[in-house]
Amino acid sequence: MSKAHLDVVLTDTIGTINPNIYGHFMEHLGACVYEGAWVGEDSPIPNTRGFRNDVIAALKQIKAPVLRWPGGCFADDYHWQDGIGPRESRPRRINIHWGGVVETNEVGTHEFLDFCNLVGAKPYFAGNLGSGTVREMRDWVEYCNYPGDSTLALQRAENGSKEPFGVEFWGVGNENWGCGGNFSPEDYGTEYRRYSTYLRNLGDTKLFLVACGPAQNDLDWTRRFFTKLRKDYWQGTDIHGYAAHYYCGTAGSATEYTVDEWYELLYSASGVEPLIVQQWALMAGFDPAHKIGLIVDEWGTWHKPAPGHNPAFLWQQNTVRDGLVAALSLDIFNRHSDKVVMANIAQTINVLQAMILTEGEKMVLTPTFHVYDLYSDHQGGESVRTLFVTPEIETPKGKLPQVSGSASIKGSTLTLTLVNTNATEVAETSVRLLGGVLKQVVSTTGLSFPDGDIQAHNTFDNPEVVTVASQDLVASSDQFGLVITLPAASVTKLTLEI
Ligand code: AHR
Repeated sequence: MSKAHLDVVLTDTIGTINPNIYGHFMEHLGACVYEGAWVGEDSPIPNTRGFRNDVIAALKQIKAPVLRWPGGCFADDYHWQDGIGPRESRPRRINIHWGGVVETNEVGTHEFLDFCNLVGAKPYFAGNLGSGTVREMRDWVEYCNYPGDSTLALQRAENGSKEPFGVEFWGVGNENWGCGGNFSPEDYGTEYRRYSTYLRNLGDTKLFLVACGPAQNDLDWTRRFFTKLRKDYWQGTDIHGYAAHYYCGTAGSATEYTVDEWYELLYSASGVEPLIVQQWALMAGFDPAHKIGLIVDEWGTWHKPAPGHNPAFLWQQNTVRDGLVAALSLDIFNRHSDKVVMANIAQTINVLQAMILTEGEKMVLTPTFHVYDLYSDHQGGESVRTLFVTPEIETPKGKLPQVSGSASIKGSTLTLTLVNTNATEVAETSVRLLGGVLKQVVSTTGLSFPDGDIQAHNTFDNPEVVTVASQDLVASSDQFGLVITLPAASVTKLTLEI
């Protein structure tokens, strides 16, 4: 058995955990939007105005706060006018990035915003900078947000929504260093300035504009992009969020891996922490007051294509290893709640590290979904400092802490989430509260799966192999803290009254 220790410094507050850190991403890719969410009004699958009821209920359960749409790479080849008006007369386009399939445009602006309302999430639109025009993006804002009687606002009313939608979050392009136009950071800086000049607050909605940040922790992109902005026109440029993308994977498969590959993936997932710290430090040189928030608007595991699935559709299974990646990442975002204002895991349904898999009328919830369910109590909490003393696991690329986590306070409730990355050893962890007392251990819940099965996952035939269950792990407790035995390969949530 390994031993670890944690001090939770209740008086050392880091910042409020923006609920949008628990955000999601839905692209017109594979079966994410079509089949995954949208089945159409005439489908035998129970739906509300075309969207699956089971999927809506699942996303409500995890309190999905924000949904990024329509891409991804798809966004920079998407023309929003294709997705409004009578559905039967919408143009059919080719989805050039994802398998060359025909995009019917059945789900467009009105449908997607209806889905957001059904789920209770805010929309985050990714605008087309790569192949669109400034006018096109500016008009999309007007179409969505203008309350008056401009031609575009009247068209919106004709299409079913007299009231403006009030879309606040707008991405000004996506991966513009790659599929979003292959720009240099300087050229993207020029384009960002030009586009953002025309994206205005219309009506009551104050826009939150997001610039495309680096691939992984590319500091060169950030330095050159901000240098260009500052040199030419820094003062007049509206930029509220700066979005990095961070994916992790291994050479192995999503469901069959060795213990070494287990550690390799978890180590690589932990790399989002140096990204946050280093990008933030670099941004401070240009934005010392930190008015611009850091966003990780695509992140998660990207495994080898699954046999029997179109490789362009990025379908993959999701095991407890993916669950631990989610937990480690969310704990990192919580611990950096002073820096990270939004994060959107890729992607919500049937694509990459999905919450939900669907097959016809069947739906399965993944271990990643269960981690989001467990962690949802952190949303809106005040993140407080956690100081870990933990054994480390040697991986070929570096050392992985065995025990890590995060803590947040809401009123008299302390939510503490803990991950034991060790695939085989339990960790006896002493937790001491500094600056307050423990009144009661309210509950202990965690990811539950067959003992020792680090490849455990849910299938359509066996959907409850990995679930969330209450667990009896607290060995002792007093007013100063507690001792908890964290199972091997575990994610645990403690709800404590303080
Ligand atoms: O999430 C899949 C793809 O990954 C997105 O379309 C793109 O932005 C990224 O490269």
